[in-house]
Amino acid sequence: MNTKLDDATPLADQDPSITTALPGPRAAEMIASRREFLSPSLIHVFPLMVQRASGCMVEDVDGNVFLDCEAGIATASTGHCHPKVVEAVKAQSEVLIHMCGTDFHYPGYGELCRRLAQYAPGPDDWRTYLSNSGTESVEAAIKLARHHTGRSDIIAFRGAFHGRSLGSLSLTASKTKYRRRFGPLLPGVHHVTYANPSQRNHAAQQTPEAYGIACVEEGIERDLFQYTVPPDQVAAIVVEPVQGEGGYIVPPRSFLERLRRLCDEHGILLVFDEVQAGMGRTGTFFAAEHFGVMPDIITLAKGLATGFPLGAMMARPDVMTWPGGTHGSTCAGNPVCIAAALATLDLLESELCQNSREVGTYLQDKLRQEVGGLSTVVEVRGLGLMIGIEMTSPELAEEILQRCYRRGLLILDCGEQALRMAPPLILTRHQADIAVDIFAAVCRECSA
Ligand SMILES: Cc1ncc(COP(=O)(O)O)c(C=O)c1O
Repeated sequence: MNTKLDDATPLADQDPSITTALPGPRAAEMIASRREFLSPSLIHVFPLMVQRASGCMVEDVDGNVFLDCEAGIATASTGHCHPKVVEAVKAQSEVLIHMCGTDFHYPGYGELCRRLAQYAPGPDDWRTYLSNSGTESVEAAIKLARHHTGRSDIIAFRGAFHGRSLGSLSLTASKTKYRRRFGPLLPGVHHVTYANPSQRNHAAQQTPEAYGIACVEEGIERDLFQYTVPPDQVAAIVVEPVQGEGGYIVPPRSFLERLRRLCDEHGILLVFDEVQAGMGRTGTFFAAEHFGVMPDIITLAKGLATGFPLGAMMARPDVMTWPGGTHGSTCAGNPVCIAAALATLDLLESELCQNSREVGTYLQDKLRQEVGGLSTVVEVRGLGLMIGIEMTSPELAEEILQRCYRRGLLILDCGEQALRMAPPLILTRHQADIAVDIFAAVCRECSA
């Protein structure tokens, strides 16, 4: 580790190597001279000025090399600049860049919808609307749910992240800063408790499964439906099958099963937001597969096109009933993005879902072994390569994040005091070992 290989070694095969103070001189100069032109709403977790990236490795403008275990927020699913994705994008760019899928036909659009229908849970007759992003997929889901049911209200969950445009933001409830001064947001959105197994009543020895059911029966049926919201006013329940920004929380299966039953009882649509958890991130194409629960609508984006701006809103055919002209967007379903998505699907199918499962299990086990017993670490959790590590305080999580960066490991925070590892799905065991070595060394330093 930290051995700079000779310059002939392709970036993707290098190990992390930090050779300057961070930020390095070029990065510091570039950031300082351009910052005043940027919207101050952008966070910039690290003073990192990326020059290029390949596979799981990222190189900054000063030649420092980082192991990327966050993949542009769980998005560079096939790794940076995967040759098959690059080839597909190049070929498509030479023949057709834009046409507008709302108004015209072109070959890739239908093919991508057909392929997605094939991988989605249940019968392969799903219908798909393509969008430009996660938030747009959620907006489309909200509109379709209202249009189809003729009802107005939506139930969402505390800790949820569904995007930042005004409709999706109305469902987002992971941090108040996302919502402050943007109201009034959509009326008729009701937030209830997400079944985070670590929040269950330990004193009463409640099992995760019992807690999952209680969240639905007490939080929605007995509280919301009895006192404030008649169920026949609710168009949809929108839920992340694994909560992302809220802390990489895997709910008990009973929670999603009970939500399904509740929806069936009251004619409510069940929407799974798989923008972060979908597309192989948890080791299966769709996170829903882990729970055996079939939603009515699924939203996708992020890993779908390895970072090209593309989202999808899929619905069962009896739900996707809105007529021509009710929804669309000029660049949504862009042919170049679709080419990237088709290449991404090929890679997910041939090897990457499996790699996510196998290397994800390996990485989680190793993390549990190396840091699970430390006083600073509460829990290691996750599915596939969607891994959360709960720390003992928000300050500690931030300190560890920054120290990992300074040693050449890129990770992100999530929830109140957790860290997330969401590397490209091509991560190797060798790279998983490096990630654990750096992470464990930093955790030990901070536990001392
Ligand atoms: C579950 C979920 N839904 C929606 C979004 C919004 O996606 P985008 O940033 O592409 O608008 C995100 C982004 O992090 C997400 O994690």
